[in-house]
Amino acid sequence: MNERDSDAVATLLRDKGYSIVNEEKTADVILLNTCSVREQAEQKAIGKAGYITARKRRNPNLVVGIMGCMAQNKGNDLVDKLPDLDLIIGTQKFHRVPDHLSNFIKSMSGLGPRPNTIIDIEEEKGSQNTIKSHAEEKKVSAFVSIMQGCNMKCSYCIVPKTRGSERARPSSEIISEIKDLAKKGTKEITLLGQIVNQYAVREFPFLEKKSPFVQLLEKVNAIDGIERIRFTSPHPVGFKDDLIECYKRLPKLCEYLHFPMQSGSNRILKAMRRPYSIEKFKHIIEKLRAIKPDIYISTDIIVGFPEENEDDFEATRSAFESIGFDMAYIFKYSVRPGTTAEPKGDPVSREIKEQRNQVLLDILNKSSLARNQSLIGTTQEILLEGHAKRGNNMFTGRTRGYRKVFTHASDRLIGELVEVKITKATASSLTGDLVITN
Ligand code: 5AD
Ligand code: SF4
Repeated sequence: MNERDSDAVATLLRDKGYSIVNEEKTADVILLNTCSVREQAEQKAIGKAGYITARKRRNPNLVVGIMGCMAQNKGNDLVDKLPDLDLIIGTQKFHRVPDHLSNFIKSMSGLGPRPNTIIDIEEEKGSQNTIKSHAEEKKVSAFVSIMQGCNMKCSYCIVPKTRGSERARPSSEIISEIKDLAKKGTKEITLLGQIVNQYAVREFPFLEKKSPFVQLLEKVNAIDGIERIRFTSPHPVGFKDDLIECYKRLPKLCEYLHFPMQSGSNRILKAMRRPYSIEKFKHIIEKLRAIKPDIYISTDIIVGFPEENEDDFEATRSAFESIGFDMAYIFKYSVRPGTTAEPKGDPVSREIKEQRNQVLLDILNKSSLARNQSLIGTTQEILLEGHAKRGNNMFTGRTRGYRKVFTHASDRLIGELVEVKITKATASSLTGDLVITN
């Protein structure tokens, strides 16, 4: 989501005549987009911002701003920590960056003192409709933000505070954005939202028992040129049969789901205020696998939530192993200000969190390696995204199951669906040979 927001801001700035440079050192303006989900992410951003603002001593014209969740979360307090910041822009104000920047630059060009920090972190009605611009160049795969905010109150999570309450974009605007992307050559769309399957449940009606999100998926599936659809992240609550059946009905919907489990212990799920049981979570996966046996599933897990004891962790470990995830993000619990879990503190030690993290990582490595190895010898459809960083004239792309693949190819195939015969597998990637068809 932050990547998408940054890209939208960069596009707005380009439209105003700014150019985006490749190297931080050569920039006249540096904007940091920030995450508050864990404390470490905030510490990192503060460290980085401190390092950048120190450069102003050598280059007094340098303009430095912080945008996004940490700007929203810390607001004025950031100026105390970082008095040299010029802009602090909240999550509902990304679209205002060009105006704030140009006002700041205008007021800087006198001989007087440096203007005060511009702080804009208000709520703004309709701000969900402002993350819509994309760069002119073709994107093989594009993120599309369909909603903002979250009405859930998971006890560990700062997002409802930083992103505000749930607000959906009208589906007509989303569809026209995707049609424009398709015209420019985009083949793959990832729909983004904090709880994407809750899209517009309050604003738009269910039709023939289909949720507004399912109706949106159907419309995206009908867009010429779009070949693949993904979405992230859904919540188990509201993951109903109408959505499960989409995996049977909608050919462009990829066999891949990022499905946050958070914990395998019902006691901890309850303390986290995640309103489902591990049995319900598994049941949804069973239903999906009944329709698409080879679906790829990834998840988010938090280890070390307050009061997570050995039995709770064992429940997580066992669910994690029996489900067999293809990918997972495993997080060590971090206390977040203003959340309902904050008063519980952080009683689980860092060592135990580290140990639990490692247990899950070991399971994950085994299951993703086994899954990848099972693909050796098969031919997979890959959307070729571009040159691989590792060089050797290799290109990279992904399977429908979101597995990363390296292959030799040529520039003209970037943005195309190609067939690749898989020859090698590691836990995190596949390598293969392009299948030449006439
Ligand atoms: N501590 C650790 N992980 C967290 N997440 C959200 N809040 C916290 C927190 N306080 C994780 C959840 C979520 C992912 C985006 O970040 O697993 O799904
Ligand atoms: Fe945070 Fe829970 Fe909302 Fe996800 S569903 S953004 S974890 S409050």
